[in-house]
Amino acid sequence: MLVLQTLWPAHVHAQQGPEGTAKSEFAKQAEIYQSRDKAPEGYVVDRSLAFYTSALPAGFERSLTGLGANHRWLDIGAGMGQAILDYYTPESRAQRTEQPVQHNGKARAVALSIEDRRTSLWHQTAATLEADKIRYFFGKPLRSYTLTELGKFEVITDLLGGFSYTGDLSRFMEKTLDFLQLNGSFYTILQDIDSEAGSNRPYYPGSPYLTEIDKADGAKLKVCSWLKSISCVKVTCELKAEWKPPVEIYQIQKVCDDVVVPALMQTHFAAGTPPERRFQLLTPKPATPQPLTNTR
Ligand SMILES: C[S@@+](CC[C@H](N)C(=O)[O-])C[C@H]1O[C@@H](n2cnc3c(N)ncnc32)[C@H](O)[C@@H]1O
Repeated sequence: MLVLQTLWPAHVHAQQGPEGTAKSEFAKQAEIYQSRDKAPEGYVVDRSLAFYTSALPAGFERSLTGLGANHRWLDIGAGMGQAILDYYTPESRAQRTEQPVQHNGKARAVALSIEDRRTSLWHQTAATLEADKIRYFFGKPLRSYTLTELGKFEVITDLLGGFSYTGDLSRFMEKTLDFLQLNGSFYTILQDIDSEAGSNRPYYPGSPYLTEIDKADGAKLKVCSWLKSISCVKVTCELKAEWKPPVEIYQIQKVCDDVVVPALMQTHFAAGTPPERRFQLLTPKPATPQPLTNTR
């Protein structure tokens, strides 16, 4: 039986107003991050590891299972960090197999969120584990972290976190690929997108796709094609057309170190869960000819 996955019971669509300047849209977005008791219905922060494995490309579960104690997993936009907590407390698996839960062989995991959504369960779990097994960073977006602060990771995930929310998509990708180990993979997702398969239309009648890219001449560029134009990555894009709204899911594997991400400029941002964003592809400046030097 085909089970339709619904990501948001009542989608809070990007908020737009005639007076809406870019700045006020970012202020509205900041209010969504800081919302606590009255978080918009579409702002979900507690998705489980089971949800991650069902939503992200199949390679994610294989990659995570293959990690050992010397490896690291980064979850960008982790919300409460429930997926990481589930990774460390697989009670149901332990009960099924009646095996004691072993943590020693597990990868170290880092959760990143703009706002601090840690619960008492996070603090309790962290206290039972050896230092630095799970860490939670908050207070700023991914682009503001350095390699010295975060280090490198074999697996990076982003399930409706920064990849869906950032206003600077190309910088976000540069940083993510910087934090990724060679041969490591970034697993992520975008909802309501002009997919590579091309069989879906904008989910909300009269609205655009949630994330759009224009070329300089105004022609459309699919997100999948833009990702595939990054150097030193191997990209797969897969449409889940039966989801409501439809989602495109991505595995982006780093295959060499000379990563160059084609730059995008943000041309539209309307706050939401996730926000509505449009970008324009910037054409790289032609190389400046070097003056001829006299070698005699
Ligand atoms: C809708 S919640 C998703 C939480 C979690 N992935 C889940 O599925 O339950 C969005 C998360 O992304 C974070 N976020 C948004 N933009 C971000 C950015 N640029 N860098 C890091 N985190 C970001 C928010 O702070 C929040 O933790």
